[in-house]
Amino acid sequence: TPLINARLPKKMQSLLLLVGQKAERENVRVFAVGGFIRDLLLQIPNHDLDLVVEPAAIPFAEKLNELLRGQLTTHEQFGTASIVVPGGTQIDLVTSRQEFYARPAALPEVEQSSLKNDLFRRDFTINTLACSLKVSEFGTLIDFFHGIDDLGKGLIRVLYNLSFVEDPLRVLRAVRFEQRFGFRLEETTLSLLENAAQTRVLEKVSKERLYDEIQLALLEEKTPEILIRYFELQLAPLLFPGVCYSEKLKNRLTSTREMIAWAGRNWPDAAVSPSALYLAALMLELPFQEARHLCRRLRLPRNEVERVLAAVESVPQLLTKLLTPESLKNSELYHLFSGLPAEVLLILQAENSLSRIWESTSLYWEKLRHIKPDVGGRDLLAEGYLPGPVFQEVLLALKDARLDRQVLNREEELSLARKLFAMKEKNDA
Ligand code: CTP
Repeated sequence: TPLINARLPKKMQSLLLLVGQKAERENVRVFAVGGFIRDLLLQIPNHDLDLVVEPAAIPFAEKLNELLRGQLTTHEQFGTASIVVPGGTQIDLVTSRQEFYARPAALPEVEQSSLKNDLFRRDFTINTLACSLKVSEFGTLIDFFHGIDDLGKGLIRVLYNLSFVEDPLRVLRAVRFEQRFGFRLEETTLSLLENAAQTRVLEKVSKERLYDEIQLALLEEKTPEILIRYFELQLAPLLFPGVCYSEKLKNRLTSTREMIAWAGRNWPDAAVSPSALYLAALMLELPFQEARHLCRRLRLPRNEVERVLAAVESVPQLLTKLLTPESLKNSELYHLFSGLPAEVLLILQAENSLSRIWESTSLYWEKLRHIKPDVGGRDLLAEGYLPGPVFQEVLLALKDARLDRQVLNREEELSLARKLFAMKEKNDA
């Protein structure tokens, strides 16, 4: 209780109390479990509340939602429910597993053992902590599997030997938690994981679940470390076939994180997708067709695929052009970058720290892409020129001239347009 009072925002404290009071009134037991308690102990904010309810989650969720007036969803076949509380907190409620309930010999401990069985089926000891919320036992911390010990020692430990075989996705979750918290894989867990990697258990996971987990990994602060660890643990060949690990890739991934933070500060309008950037960084040296195939395999949504492939396709050529000794005119830079997503420019910056590259990308993103001539098609029509290919060429030439600062205002643009039309007429004649 002191931890709850000291570390959780007031709103969350009231929510927990409300749940506890409702549990008391409905005469059910309710436990906050998993990541919520883990993060409470680690002093990390966590806004998703996972509850285990004995004996049944759905009727309790319905009662609770009469008070919360949130958005309730129920799944009868799994006995689960979720409530999105106004303000954004998500509460997930599960029924503590019933099948272990009726064991005559364990009757005095029936309730406890059903919570215990529920927690035993989870992935790692640090995720098995529970805290009772029912008012009469509010704040009681339950630690069946030495989760607190492992939190203290910084260990990721599975609860049983078949854990990775039963749910191979846990292999990737183990790496994500290990890197997120700066923990270590406990010795037996590490060898079980290595064994799972060798026997390619990840191939059994559905593409959708795999994609969801990779997306979660790509949203972490420690994404580069997680991806690097995938390579160290021989998991990467299954996830990203064809991608070779090298010092260069390692540095690129770390620079990519810096670029994401940099873009957040300097290019807030770029709406950069961190996952597209990391995937582009991973695939940068793959042949285009292989990268396309991998995007498909990873079930990336189309807008992500476009960003990743734009980088794979254009970054090598862009680098060559930007590094030629002659400096490029603004209009040339504009045409080089025009239409490319911000992610491509950021990968260029991650790839090469030369100030020339940075000056070019910043000049384009911050200035050139916004420049438009004052004179448009309508003005040319008003001058009596007729639409057609020449008309279009003149408009483009005006834009280039404006980019290169050969013309600085409307009058200068109009006089350039007249000159260009006159030249064309003379040439045609
Ligand atoms: N869980 C599991 N095996 C999985 C996925 C989840 O055992 N493959 C369990 C974990 O014990 C976890 C709980 O289900 O604590 C909820 O899952 P999730 O919300 O993904 O975990 P969190 O620990 O809350 O992770 P995060 O901090 O990333 O939200």
